[in-house]
Amino acid sequence: MKKVLHIVGARPNFMKVAPIHRAISERGSLTQTLVHTGQHYDVKMSDVFFTDLGMPAPDIHLGIGSGSHAEQTAKVMIELEKVFTSEKPDLVSVVGDVNSTLAAALVAAKMGIPISHVEAGLRSFDRTMPEEINRVLTDRISDLLLTPSADADANLIREGLEPARIRLVGNVMIDSLLAAREKALRLPTLSELGLEPRGYAVCTLHRASNVDDAKVFSGLLSALSHVASRLPVVFPVHPRTRKRISELGLAATLERTPGLRLVDPMGYLEFLALTSQARLAFTDSGGLQEETTVLGIPCLTVRENTERPITVDIGTNVVVGTDPVRIQQTADRILDGHGKKGRIPDRWDGRSGERIAQEYEQFLGVGNTPRLAAV
Ligand code: UD1
Repeated sequence: MKKVLHIVGARPNFMKVAPIHRAISERGSLTQTLVHTGQHYDVKMSDVFFTDLGMPAPDIHLGIGSGSHAEQTAKVMIELEKVFTSEKPDLVSVVGDVNSTLAAALVAAKMGIPISHVEAGLRSFDRTMPEEINRVLTDRISDLLLTPSADADANLIREGLEPARIRLVGNVMIDSLLAAREKALRLPTLSELGLEPRGYAVCTLHRASNVDDAKVFSGLLSALSHVASRLPVVFPVHPRTRKRISELGLAATLERTPGLRLVDPMGYLEFLALTSQARLAFTDSGGLQEETTVLGIPCLTVRENTERPITVDIGTNVVVGTDPVRIQQTADRILDGHGKKGRIPDRWDGRSGERIAQEYEQFLGVGNTPRLAAV
């Protein structure tokens, strides 16, 4: 049987690979190997997601850990070359835009192994973002470009990539969200935190450009403190952000800010329970912009740009930048009842994993089912 090898490395990868892995396993026409690079390694940044998403433990764990971009990417490459040599995959499937994604694509390309990039074509057009470099380069060397939305197709075509390699399969991360939503809503997350549905805001911040720059980070925290004076703001803190808070000596002040609730990173289900019942969200994450659009929750993206413009064009997202005054004013407008009402983009319907499995069968010349993507 032909073999697909999946790469996961960091937190946002797990909810994208789970539905693809499940669809391939249900169809039974391909074998698959799941490789975790170990880019993220804390239990709360990794292990809990496998349990929450019902994904099997990785077949191979590389234990790479943290480091500079060059160190982390290079270490993943060195170890993956050995894995690809012994596993001999027919297709390497990578998702998203983290360092592990690009590292895997580079190794596969040099070894002549076909590559599929899931979430291809997203562009922030901001090359100061490490993720943008990872996206552009991974797409350039991938054989199958599986996109979440039509704007991504247009970006790839503009860059001169062959239309024959591009397939609009929809947003696979939304498969995970729709599959888990009911279970998440049964969790006691809100009552444990003393929150009422729609009575609080949720915040995530971890982008280097926001948390590693003291001036930007302090401005964001002051805007959050303002919002926290109107309703509780729950802020699950990413390890990078936690480190910056402590380096800047801000922990005591933040702990004392009324309404601001700093908590540890949450598992997938717990966080979904929190976001799906929030009044609004503040984030610099990519995934949360999309999740809030599907959940119908107003989202303020505290960045100067987004690689996911569809969440702004038809969803609930507003790219608000990092100016504290503008963030406060926009949040106030939403809290005063003027939040955006969005709709859900095409093919964000819970069936993307199935479409991807069918694309892989067709690419590898196995199976004989009509493609959902063409319907
Ligand atoms: C990475 C991705 C980013 C993604 C984010 C989601 C890249 C370039 N960045 O950023 O696109 O949005 O994951 O979380 O790949 N750390 C821990 N425990 C962990 C993981 C990280 O303590 O399990 C700390 C370490 O101090 C590490 C820092 O967080 O140095 C940053 O981790 P890293 O993987 O380099 O990047 P992220 O900021 O997590």
